[in-house]
Amino acid sequence: MSHSHPLCLCVLWMLACALAAQDVIPRLTHYQARPGRFVLGPATRLVATGAARPVAEQLRGYLKPATGLALPVVDTGNREATITLTLDPKGAALGEEGYRLEAVENRIELRAFRPAGLFYGVQTLRQLLPSASFRQAKVEGTTWSIPACTIEDRPRFSWRGSHLDVGRHFLPKDFIKKHLELMALHKLNVFHWHLTEDQGWRIEIKKYPKLTAVGAWRRETVVIPRVKGDGPRLHTFDGLPHGGYYTQEDVKEIVRFAADRFITVVPEIELPGHSTAAIASYPELGNSPDRVLEVATSWGVFKTVFNVEDTTIRFLKDVLDEVMVLFPSTFIHIGGDECPKAEWAGSERALARMKQEGIVPAATTLAELQNYRDDQGKLAEHPALHKLQAWFIRQFDAYLSAKGRRLLGWSEILEGGLAPNAAVMSWLGEAAGIEAARGAHDVVMAPESHTYFDYYAAKGAEPQAIGGLTPLEKVYGYDPMPAVLDARQRVHVLGAQGQLWTEYIGTPEKAEYMAWPRLTALSEAVWTPQDARAYGDFLKRLQVHFERLDALAVNYRPLDGPKSFPR
Ligand code: ACM
Repeated sequence: MSHSHPLCLCVLWMLACALAAQDVIPRLTHYQARPGRFVLGPATRLVATGAARPVAEQLRGYLKPATGLALPVVDTGNREATITLTLDPKGAALGEEGYRLEAVENRIELRAFRPAGLFYGVQTLRQLLPSASFRQAKVEGTTWSIPACTIEDRPRFSWRGSHLDVGRHFLPKDFIKKHLELMALHKLNVFHWHLTEDQGWRIEIKKYPKLTAVGAWRRETVVIPRVKGDGPRLHTFDGLPHGGYYTQEDVKEIVRFAADRFITVVPEIELPGHSTAAIASYPELGNSPDRVLEVATSWGVFKTVFNVEDTTIRFLKDVLDEVMVLFPSTFIHIGGDECPKAEWAGSERALARMKQEGIVPAATTLAELQNYRDDQGKLAEHPALHKLQAWFIRQFDAYLSAKGRRLLGWSEILEGGLAPNAAVMSWLGEAAGIEAARGAHDVVMAPESHTYFDYYAAKGAEPQAIGGLTPLEKVYGYDPMPAVLDARQRVHVLGAQGQLWTEYIGTPEKAEYMAWPRLTALSEAVWTPQDARAYGDFLKRLQVHFERLDALAVNYRPLDGPKSFPR
């Protein structure tokens, strides 16, 4: 009989443990394997007091269905068979969201400076268990064990976001909650809720009920905008009414559901563009109040935009007042993207506003605004119109700032000069983000090149997408920190987020197909240190992660392409 050298066995143990831990997504900052395993059983107790207790209750809620274990939450334990969650007031070195997890054979100790850190430790614990632990009813015949280890983990960025457009297609509340639960699993912490669009206004505003009575509904939806040969675009419509909105009670429920998972919901109210649904509801907000508009039924950038009158600014401030009551988020997103200036260039009242604000000399005419040519001699938007947009945005920057909030807007809010307290969400590449960070403005990276998940995930047969190509590997390879920024500027890059625009996403099934696993890849780009990331290693862990997503019934895109085509 031959004996293995004990050292060999030990090394094998360590390897096995290290492999198991590599399955955690996003990849852990620091992982040290130890010999042995902690086994959950009927005697296992969760020990927590004070603000740690609700997080322990969440852990219990996660694990109880599949394990069938009682996992009582108690104030003190004798250290045997315990999982202890501790908030350490001296643990500031762990950071606002970091945690330390130590698992040995008879106990697990989870420590953090803040409850958020404990929560992320809980998410890691879930992933250290067999994937069957994600099932929602008792699973027989599984040993619920965790490899002994020491983990220290914390995020690279404080803004780890997922954006969802519910304007183009209304998506039900239950889907939003499932999405938030999946975000939590991936340690994502900002849900950017794009609530208003040309094609639908989705949030109840008590003072202006027509926004949802009229603006939440459209007659029909373009199915496929076809370009036939060199000929005109031939739109095909489905002939089916579409719409929906979230009541203020729905919004409160979602904001609270998110907060329980340490997710901040950042609402977006689009201005001055992407506002057709609002103007269809209240024509006096537009530049041709006598024209009857309908909520848009096809996609694109529409020339219909808010006018720049005092009454419209008051209206939008009233909307923001209700929004601020509902959303505790410091940042309030006001859109600001894709605002064509043609209507302002044709409006005597917009011209009067420009003169009043000293943007143009008193003798300026509409013809001058309309016939402006750029350096190449091409007809272009007059720079004064960009200044008018900047003036418009500044009204809301000042308003939100006075209420202790901060304005956030897409790249184009740089046109005509950035408002003093504004933060920028950089979608047209990173240029706007870099410029803003250099000017000491905060920035969230959202470049369409790497973070637009409404783009195709692969060449070949795929469900209809808006265009583009953003494969998983490209998303994974994204580093949100531009190398050109110096240390002082870098602190202004808060993080990054994935975008889900829903022109071609009409159902939860398709939303999940487009989001996952690209959002899984992005979660690692915003959590894990850049030098600890490698795509091949990610793909290995992803195989196990897919088991978790399967148990949670997530319709993610398989790596080898679609098995069915969600609508
Ligand atoms: C955008 O994609 N228009 C922000």
